[in-house]
Order: sequence, then structure tokens, then C-alpha cells
Amino acid sequence: MNMNIREFIEEKKKKMQFEQLHTDKYIKLFEKNGKDLETLMTYYECALMEIETKLKVLNAEFELTREYSPIETIKSRLKSLDSLIAKSHLYEVKPTFEDIQDKIEDIAGIRVICGFPEDIYTVADCILQQDDIQLIDCKDYIKNPKPNGYRSLHLIISVPIFLEHEKRDMKVEVQLRTIAMDFWASLEHKLKYKKELPADINDRLVEELLECATAGAALDMKMQNIRRQITGGTSHIDDAVDLQQWM
Ligand code: GTP
Ligand code: MG
Repeated sequence: MNMNIREFIEEKKKKMQFEQLHTDKYIKLFEKNGKDLETLMTYYECALMEIETKLKVLNAEFELTREYSPIETIKSRLKSLDSLIAKSHLYEVKPTFEDIQDKIEDIAGIRVICGFPEDIYTVADCILQQDDIQLIDCKDYIKNPKPNGYRSLHLIISVPIFLEHEKRDMKVEVQLRTIAMDFWASLEHKLKYKKELPADINDRLVEELLECATAGAALDMKMQNIRRQITGGTSHIDDAVDLQQWM
């Protein structure tokens, strides 16, 4: 066996053992408290149901009063236990359900796909106005796109769920984006997980994706402009709204 390969394998083995050692504590927590884990994940699922209903109610009202739907699609997902463990390890979270709930803010995730950029801010504003919703964190990657071109509005919110004997506030990550932003993010995600591409090809694709992101943003603005002219109206709020006011 070539020395480099041997070294590589030894290094990989050590890394795997190291990671195993550090992720074992979460597996043990889950093993010892299976019922509590199931309960917690069910609570997050309930929080997703709450937010999804709120979004559907808003869409129904918009259809009624303005004859259009700001929301095209809603996708919810509960974080898999595998990625919960990986992220807990990465963020050095203590192996307790308290610390996991405190530090991992995207166990419940919901993606809201809108037709136009201004719809994103309309939907976000309508949700944040609701008196049972609290904004914990907001990252506006539309006003400030990531260097790779990623655009979306991310909100970490807290929503109460009402159980038989108690009310619990649960965190939900809401990602709002246009169809164009979502289209781009899906393709970029594929590239991110394609590890075996030669560096020069990878670099070229990264560059091309950045061009696509810019083209997507221009298309979004152009189509929004056309819509405004067709409907003769302006949006519910203009897209310069400062969501920080809800924090
Ligand atoms: P993590 O929560 O650990 O991901 O770190 P963070 O809180 O700094 O992440 P951020 O809020 O920036 O992004 C959270 C999620 O947004 C990710 O899990 C992805 O779903 C999505 N996202 C963020 N950046 C990118 C990106 O560059 N490309 C794609 N495709 N998705 C992204
Ligand atoms: Mg995050």
C-alpha cells in the first residue's frame, strides 16, 4: 500500500473515532430518554403546523381581498436526528434537551416560496405582527446576499403551542424566498455536496452560479415591476421595511 494512502486512512480512522467519541453522548441521551426525544420532536412538529396554518390563513385572506396569493408553496421539515447530532457536535452543544433546544434553532424549519421579492416582506411582516409570535433573529440575505450569491430572508421565530396542561414556546426557522431564489439555492446545494469535482471546474461553476444569482435577482425585480404595472398597485408594504423593528 502506498504510504500516502496508508496515512490518509489512518488519519480518517482517527477522525472518525474522535467524532464517534463526541457524538456518542447525544446517542446516549437519545437512548436513555427516547420518550422525551419523541415528545420534543412532536412539539416541534406542532410548531410547524401552527406556522403553516398561519401562512395558509394569510394566503386565503389575500386571495379574498386582493385576488392574489403572495405564497406559492410551503415546505416544512423536521431536522433528522443524524443532522441534529452532527450540528450539536459542531456547535459544542451540551448533551441535554435544554441546551439542544437553546442552541439549535432550526430543528423545525419551514420554507416559504413567494412569487415576488416584495411578497416576502409582506408575508414576513404579517407573521411578525401577530401578537403570539416573537422574532428571535433575522438574517436578510436579500438585502445582503452571501458572497456566493445566496438570497433568502431567514427568520428565527418563537411560536406557542397549546398542550393539555401547558403552553410551550417553540423555535422555528422560516426561510422566505422567491421561486428564482429557490431554483438557484437547489442547484447551488447540489454543487456544495458534490465533493469529487476537480478544483478548476468547481471554481468555474461557483463563478457561473454567482452570475446566475445576479441574473435571478435582476429577473425578480423586472418581473415585480411588470406585475406592479399590470395590477396598477403597489404592494401591501414596500420592500424597504425594517424587520428589525420586530426584534
Ligand atoms: P447553520 O444554521 O449552522 O447553517 O448556520 P447559520 O445559522 O449561520 O446559517 P444561515 O442562517 O446562514 O443558513 C441556514 C440555512 O439556510 C442552511 O441550512 C441552508 O438551508 C440555507 N442556506 C444558507 N446559506 C446557503 C447557501 O449558501 N446555499 C444554499 N443552497 N443554502 C443556504
Ligand atoms: Mg441557522
